[in-house]
Amino acid sequence: MNSVEQRINFLKEEINKHNHNYYVLDLPTISDFDFDQLLQELIHLETQYPHLQTPDSPTQRVGGEVIKQFETVSHIFPMLSLGNTYSNEELIEFDKRIKGLVSQDVEYVCELKYDGVAISLIYENGQLLRAVTRGDGVQGDVVTQNIKTIKSIPLKLMGDYPSFFEVRGEVILPHKKFDQLNLEKEEIGEQPFANPRNAASGSLKLQDPAEVAKRGLDCRLYLLLGDDLKSETQYDAIRNLTSWGFKTPEIIEKYSTITGVLQFIEKWNTEREKLPFDIDGIVIKVNSFAQQTQLGATAKSPRWAIAYKFKAKRVLTPLISVDYQVGRTGVVTPVANLKPVKLAGTIVKRASLHNRDVMENLDLHEHDFVYVEKGGEIIPKIVGVEVSQRDIFASKIQFIELCPECGSTLINKEGEAGTFCPNESHCPPQIKGKLEHFISRKAMNIDSLGEGKIDVLFQNQLVDNVADLYDLSYEKLIGLEKKLINETDGSEKTISFQDKTVQNILNGIDQSKNIPFDRVLFALGIRFVGETTAKKLANHFQNINNLSNATFEELIQVEDVGEKVAQSICNYFLQPENLEIIVRLQNAHLRFEADEQSKKVIADLLNGASIVVSGVFSIPRDQLKTMVEQYGGKNVSSISKQTQFLIAGDNMGPEKRKKAEKLSIPIISEQDFYNMIQQG
Ligand code: IVH
Repeated sequence: MNSVEQRINFLKEEINKHNHNYYVLDLPTISDFDFDQLLQELIHLETQYPHLQTPDSPTQRVGGEVIKQFETVSHIFPMLSLGNTYSNEELIEFDKRIKGLVSQDVEYVCELKYDGVAISLIYENGQLLRAVTRGDGVQGDVVTQNIKTIKSIPLKLMGDYPSFFEVRGEVILPHKKFDQLNLEKEEIGEQPFANPRNAASGSLKLQDPAEVAKRGLDCRLYLLLGDDLKSETQYDAIRNLTSWGFKTPEIIEKYSTITGVLQFIEKWNTEREKLPFDIDGIVIKVNSFAQQTQLGATAKSPRWAIAYKFKAKRVLTPLISVDYQVGRTGVVTPVANLKPVKLAGTIVKRASLHNRDVMENLDLHEHDFVYVEKGGEIIPKIVGVEVSQRDIFASKIQFIELCPECGSTLINKEGEAGTFCPNESHCPPQIKGKLEHFISRKAMNIDSLGEGKIDVLFQNQLVDNVADLYDLSYEKLIGLEKKLINETDGSEKTISFQDKTVQNILNGIDQSKNIPFDRVLFALGIRFVGETTAKKLANHFQNINNLSNATFEELIQVEDVGEKVAQSICNYFLQPENLEIIVRLQNAHLRFEADEQSKKVIADLLNGASIVVSGVFSIPRDQLKTMVEQYGGKNVSSISKQTQFLIAGDNMGPEKRKKAEKLSIPIISEQDFYNMIQQG
C-alpha cells in the first residue's frame, strides 16, 4: 500500500470514528473546524486519485445522482407488520397465548415503537450494500443513495460482524428538525408536513440525495436477520448491533412477567411527551430467538411480537370562536379558539383547523363541543364534534369570503389545498412576511432588524415593500416608538429608537448590498424558490435580466426546476410591481449578477451549449459538471430539442438514451468530452 492509500485509509477511519461518536453516541470528540479539515483533505485526495475512492468512504454520503425513478427489488425475507393492541386485557391474552405455545419460561423485551418509516439495510463484508423501503412488504424501493446521507447509518462496520446480514429499523425525523423543515417550507409558500412521520417518508422519496442530507433524518435499528447472527436473543442482537456501529433503541428492558411489561407501558405512556421524537406505542418481543422460531408467523405478522399502541389523548371542550390567520404567502388558516383544557401535559387554548376542506368536513356549528386530540402530531387537532350536545338553534360556521386583514375576496388556487388572499403587495401580513423573509439570516441577513422593528416601520408607514428599506434614513428612524405589551398583566411600555439602534439598522441595510446574487434572489420571496433553487437559477442565468426574460421552457431546463416552480417564476416577473421593486433594488446597488468567481470560465469552447451529464464517471459527476461550466457549457437536467449533446457514463438510465436517440442528440463518452475540450 502506498502512502497516499495509507493516508486515505487513515482519514476514512478517523472521520468514521468522529461521525459515530457524534451521530450515534451523541458524544462529540472533535471540533467542527477540525472535522471539516479532515473531510476536505479526503475529498482532495480522492479527487486526485479517483481509483482510490470506495463506496464506503464518508465522502460518498452525499453526491449521488438525482434519481428519477427508484428501482424496485424483492425483500430477502418479507417485511411483515405487527399485531396491534390498545388494551391491557389483550396484552394479557397475548402472554397466555405465548405461554400455551412454548414449554419453557418466556422472557419479554420491551422497546419503544418509533413512529417513522421502516427500512431494510443489507450489509456485506461490513459495507452497506443496499437500503430498501418496506413497499408492499414483498417488494420495496431501493433508496440507498438517500439512506447514505443519514449520518447515524454506518457505511462501514466495526468489530466482529457477520459477513452477510440484514438489519431493519425505522428512519425518524426528530421534532427539532421537523419544526425547522416546516418553517422553511412555509417560508417559500409550500404546504408544511402534517407530522414527522410524513416528513421522514417524503424525505426518503426525494430525488436529490443532496436535499435529503439537509433534512436531518435519524434512525433506530432493531431487528437482525440472516443465517449467522452471532446472537441468541433479541437483547444480545441489539447489543451486538450497537457494537458494530449501529444506532439502536436507547430504551430496552427485559421482563419475565407481563406485569413488568404493563408497568413499562404505563411509564412510557407519560414519559413519551419528553422524548425529542415521536413514538406511537411499545413493541413487546419474545427475547429468545429459539422461541421466536418455535412460535413462527402468520401470513401477516410474527406470533412472537405485538405492538401496544398508545391511544391518542383526547378531550371534549367547547368551541369559542374561529379566527383566520393570513400567512406570508397569503394562505388563510382557520384556527379554533377553545375553552382552555388540559391535554397530554399542556393546556390547549387553540387548535388549527388546517384549511377550508378540513373545516367543512367537521361541519362546525356555533358553541359546538369539539373533541381535541394530540396524537403523532405536535399541534393538537380537532377530530370531531359531539353532535348530541349541539344547540338546535346554532348556525353553521361558514368559512370567510373576504380577507380579514385587507378585505380582498379570497381565492382557491387550482391544485392547491389552501384558500388565499390574492392581494400580495398590499395585504399587511403578506407585506410584513415578505419583509421578514427578506431580512432573514439565509437571505439578506440584516440582523439589526427583526420582526418587532419591521412592525414598527410598517406601522409608521415607512416600509411597504422590500425596496423601501433602502430609502430609510437616520432622520426617518430616530425617535420612532415601539409599544411593548406585557403578556401576563397586559401593561404597556414604550421604547423609542435611539442613536445606536438607528446606526445599527442603517449599517445592516448597507452591508446587505454585498450579499451575493443567489441570496438576493432567494430573498425576493418568489413562491417555491428556496435557497437551493435560487442558487441553481443564479448559476444558470447569471443575472436578473436573463432570468426575468427566461421562458417557461427555458426555466424547466434548470436542474430542480419543475413546472410548478417555473410557473411561479413566470408569474412573478409578469407583475409590474415586482419589476419596479427590482429596478429600485438595482438602483440601491444590490447584487443582481453572479460573482466573477462563480462564472470562472476557463475557455468559452462550448459556447453556451446545453449539455446533459448522466451516469457514473471516473470522477465525481459534480466535478464533470463544473468542467462543463468552466468551458462555457450549461448543465441541464433533462433532454429536449435544445440539448446539444449528452455525456453518458456507466449505468445511465435507458429512458435518457432512448429520448436522446429519438431526438437525434449526439451521445458522447467521458473521453470524447475530454478530447473535445482539449482540441478546442
Ligand atoms: S419489530 C415483524 N421494533 O412498527 C415486524 N418494529 O407496526 C417486526 N416499529 O413495521 C418489527 N418501532 O416499522 C419493531 N422497536 C420496534 C419498532 C418497530 C417501530 C415499526 C416497524 C414495524 C411497525 C409494525
